[in-house]
Amino acid sequence: MRIIQSNTYPIHFENSLQQLGRFITENHYSKILFLVDTLTEKHCLPVVKAALPELKDFDIIEVDPGEENKNIDFCIGIWKMMLDFKADRNSLLINLGGGVITDMGGFAASTFKRGIDFVHVPTTLLSQVDASVGGKTGIDMDQVKNIIGTFTQPRAVFIEPGFLKTLDKRQIYSGFAEIIKHGLIYDADLFNSIRDIQPELTAPEYIYRSVEIKNEVVTQDPLEKGLRKILNFGHTIGHAVESHSLMNDRDPLLHGEAIAIGFICEAYLSVRYSTLSEAELAKIVSVVLHYYPKYQLNQASFGALTELMLNDKKNADGRINFSLLSRIGECSTDKFCEETEIEESLNYYRSL
Ligand SMILES: NC(=O)c1ccc[n+]([C@@H]2O[C@H](COP(=O)([O-])OP(=O)(O)OC[C@H]3O[C@@H](n4cnc5c(N)ncnc54)[C@H](O)[C@@H]3O)[C@@H](O)[C@H]2O)c1
Ligand SMILES: [Zn+2]
Repeated sequence: MRIIQSNTYPIHFENSLQQLGRFITENHYSKILFLVDTLTEKHCLPVVKAALPELKDFDIIEVDPGEENKNIDFCIGIWKMMLDFKADRNSLLINLGGGVITDMGGFAASTFKRGIDFVHVPTTLLSQVDASVGGKTGIDMDQVKNIIGTFTQPRAVFIEPGFLKTLDKRQIYSGFAEIIKHGLIYDADLFNSIRDIQPELTAPEYIYRSVEIKNEVVTQDPLEKGLRKILNFGHTIGHAVESHSLMNDRDPLLHGEAIAIGFICEAYLSVRYSTLSEAELAKIVSVVLHYYPKYQLNQASFGALTELMLNDKKNADGRINFSLLSRIGECSTDKFCEETEIEESLNYYRSL
């Protein structure tokens, strides 16, 4: 049976919903609560119920979908519902949804009565290959993402690729960017195998390998003191582009679409500030543009973008901190780049 063992918890890949049923039976919880959003209640909860007919006694906490609801107000709503349902220290919260649900549910559970057990059943590609693994929980505040949160590990993660059938194609591509990232920073073979696959048919093997990589990185550095920062490749510029697009575009970029732009710009910086070759840069550009069509980056927005990067919590002394590729499959951290070079990398993207 395919299980990846993290420091303190298993990540299940085979018969995952049956494994969830087994986990529930074995642990004798006083109460079982599902956290869902409107869409996962509609598309995913019925699948869980059908797989676990013996599970009859549970309560459901439902929130509105979307990043704009990953905040303290919704969290208070979750805590109140937990109280109404008489959850105690021996209750279990099952987070059934994408990264918004796993992040916010993990945070709500890790703080309720000083912490109750929670498990993740991720239902988006992004949450399966990234958000559900590694123990970061959190919510946003005042437009700043994940600014309040904890490092708390789930008791287990149950990955069921079948949930992706109802997921919007754009969301699939968004999650697929994190698989590309895991190849770029850790596994050249994974990256090289990615060229001609259709993200909407993402094979479970890709999800498995991606989780294996994320898990290998986070178990070596659970609190992000060093190695874990390699997971930020593409995200310094990508996050700025994502926030800027959220504030200015009628149809804003999704996370993965924004970090795909970050991959290209930061690969360009990797040639200047690290040892990535021009040939490798060209290969990265061709793969990324194959999956993510060119976005109109406006030169007038460069100032706002660098401003957003300077506010990033990873910086030190007003300098912008990057994780850059030394070659495809290998990444190094704490590289500081000049503003002019960053603008040059944005111009490089524009010139493609
Ligand atoms: N903790 C971490 O390490 C970590 C890592 C990466 C991202 N994140 C967080 O993850 C979040 C993004 O996650 P996401 O992209 O999964 O977003 P999301 O949870 O908002 O899900 C995207 C959309 O898909 C819908 N959906 C979910 N599953 C579905 C399904 N099976 N069928 C149909 N619709 C479905 C949701 O209702 C939502 O509208 C961000 O808040 C980000 O900060 C956390
Ligand atoms: Zn990401």
